[in-house]
Amino acid sequence: MEIRAYHQNDFPKMAALFVKNFKGLRSSIPILPDLMEDPQRIVGMLNNLPGIVAYEGDQAVGYLGWWLVDDFRGTGRKGAYCPEWGHGVVDAKLYRTLYRAAAEQWAKAGCEVHAISLLANDQAAREIWFWNGFGLTGVDAIRPITPLEIAAPEGITIRPAALADVEGWVALEIEHSRHYTLPPVSMVAHETEDADDFTAFISQPNNTIWLALDDDTPIGFIRFEHNSFGAAAIVNAPDKIAITGAYVLSRYRGRRVSGAILDAALRHYATKGFSRCSVDFEAFNPEAAVFWPKYFDVVCLSVIRVPERVI
Ligand SMILES: CC(C)(COP(=O)(O)OP(=O)(O)OC[C@H]1O[C@@H](n2cnc3c(N)ncnc32)[C@H](O)[C@@H]1OP(=O)(O)O)[C@@H](O)C(=O)NCCC(=O)NCCS
Repeated sequence: MEIRAYHQNDFPKMAALFVKNFKGLRSSIPILPDLMEDPQRIVGMLNNLPGIVAYEGDQAVGYLGWWLVDDFRGTGRKGAYCPEWGHGVVDAKLYRTLYRAAAEQWAKAGCEVHAISLLANDQAAREIWFWNGFGLTGVDAIRPITPLEIAAPEGITIRPAALADVEGWVALEIEHSRHYTLPPVSMVAHETEDADDFTAFISQPNNTIWLALDDDTPIGFIRFEHNSFGAAAIVNAPDKIAITGAYVLSRYRGRRVSGAILDAALRHYATKGFSRCSVDFEAFNPEAAVFWPKYFDVVCLSVIRVPERVI
């Protein structure tokens, strides 16, 4: 087997490997956009992703591409990240061979984190990366824009936030932001959004923050964003809306407040011509890990390894 850096001439063969796997996932989750079934699209994306390819004779049997990322997930560590369309193999065992070769380059580049996103239906890949020391971190999921038939609990009203709701929302956002820093989530603190961020956000076309209110006091929200970055590429399409934040005060949890917010917002986006809704969340956030998979299909699993030693 020959392993070497890939070039443009290799791209069609590499794209075919990804597209075959992606079609398998889309056959069971048809609400995934079909855009990534187009090999030309993948070829175009590979232009900006360096990496390696494995050949048996003239057959490309696997490839692995990555970006080097400074300050990975805000940890201050340098990482190597392989997107879900940036790898493919004819047999999952080849990931071991590709990882061995890639990890040498990542070590030389000073990477302290190794990360790869996997198509959620690829059990064999999941097993191999798990055995390589990787653990689940990020989850991407999608659902059709169809109502859930969940009514708001008694005494709770649901409506989109207006500019006048800024104060109530900021109070919730402070708690939301704090949630991620506390155990067991224990993520690096990100800057909490403020009143200006709120105003800028809801002023964008098709962005909304849906509030749940007890009397006039906001007690929860879900934030919907039209042009969002940072999630898996396979969920992206012009008629997709992304959820980029959700929070309900702890004393109101478990009463389907979030289910009711989601239901109202999905009804709204259906009238605006949207057909799919995506969300990404941390697998180690227990509330999120219980809530989203009830209503969304998981399509992408991002796994991470933090090697014990960096040369
Ligand atoms: C995720 C979150 C928004 C869900 O809100 P919610 O209004 O409690 O959601 P629901 O009541 O519709 O569903 C929660 C599920 O958690 C479980 N649950 C029950 N009691 C609970 C409680 N006291 N606290 C948390 N979850 C509870 C239930 O199993 C429920 O499922 P069910 O509908 O099958 O009964 C909320 O837990 C939260 O704000 N978490 C902290 C912030 C966060 O993680 N946000 C997600 C970011 S990706």
